[in-house]
Amino acid sequence: MAEIIGGVGTSHVPSIGVALDKGLAETPDWKPFFDGYIPGKKWMADKKPDVAVVIFNDHGNTFFLDRVPTFAIGVADSYKPVDEGWGPRAVPEFEGAVDLSWHIVDTMVENHFDPLVCREIEVDHGLQVPLELFFGRPEHWPVKVVPIWVNTIQYPIPTPQRCWEMGKVLRKAIESFPGDERVVIMGTGGLSHQLQGSRAGFINREADEAWLDGIANDYEKYRNMSRKDYVDQFGSEGAELIMWLVMRAAMNPHVEMKHRHYYAPASLTGAGMVVLENA
Ligand code: DHB
Ligand code: FE
Repeated sequence: MAEIIGGVGTSHVPSIGVALDKGLAETPDWKPFFDGYIPGKKWMADKKPDVAVVIFNDHGNTFFLDRVPTFAIGVADSYKPVDEGWGPRAVPEFEGAVDLSWHIVDTMVENHFDPLVCREIEVDHGLQVPLELFFGRPEHWPVKVVPIWVNTIQYPIPTPQRCWEMGKVLRKAIESFPGDERVVIMGTGGLSHQLQGSRAGFINREADEAWLDGIANDYEKYRNMSRKDYVDQFGSEGAELIMWLVMRAAMNPHVEMKHRHYYAPASLTGAGMVVLENA
């Protein structure tokens, strides 16, 4: 059966990709941010997963506001990086883990989650940037992907509790897949940020630090918070953090935090990552 070898939570801010495109990773603004990912990258290189299940949101790039699925899954052979308006990037296409994707879709439906199933779709920075952060800029990605989209853009977004339940079903799906794939689950988004309205520019370092500490083994409060609590504490876009709950729920109740990194501000956000292994 396929095996979950770990879970990571990470920011997916587009300007991280732009910093890489422009060769700014070693500049004083960006170096402390990228340096913090070195242990995470090394962990990934050592663990050598075959598949990354990436939980992220689209940002009006492939779904626009006229049609927004609450949950969607890709079952495509490959996914092109979508051009978000600043031209095509030097990011290779992502190969899909097609059979695992279909198995996850089927398991979800069996367990009363009914995602939009996407046979042809492109992926934005929500997926591109986390892979760049953990795998660098290879000619070919060393993992296949299963993209899972969660609506965190257009209200009503799903509840944190629903995201948690989906993580449980995701685990059931992966662990019942007849294969020997080593799977890493990547929950993306956050940390605190708000890009609009009177609180534009809002960052809550204290809440971010507590989140990074708590998501490993003190997660009950985050699991029980309301959507409004997420917006209050982390900002309207910081509510993307509910997608880390999908990853966390797919892990054991007790996990070991292998790596943790926080840096703020990265662009307009609190940023960072955790790397978790089942205890
Ligand atoms: C920005 C965009 C994001 O999707 C995100 O999660 C954080 C920041 C931005 O445009 O700065
Ligand atoms: Fe985002």
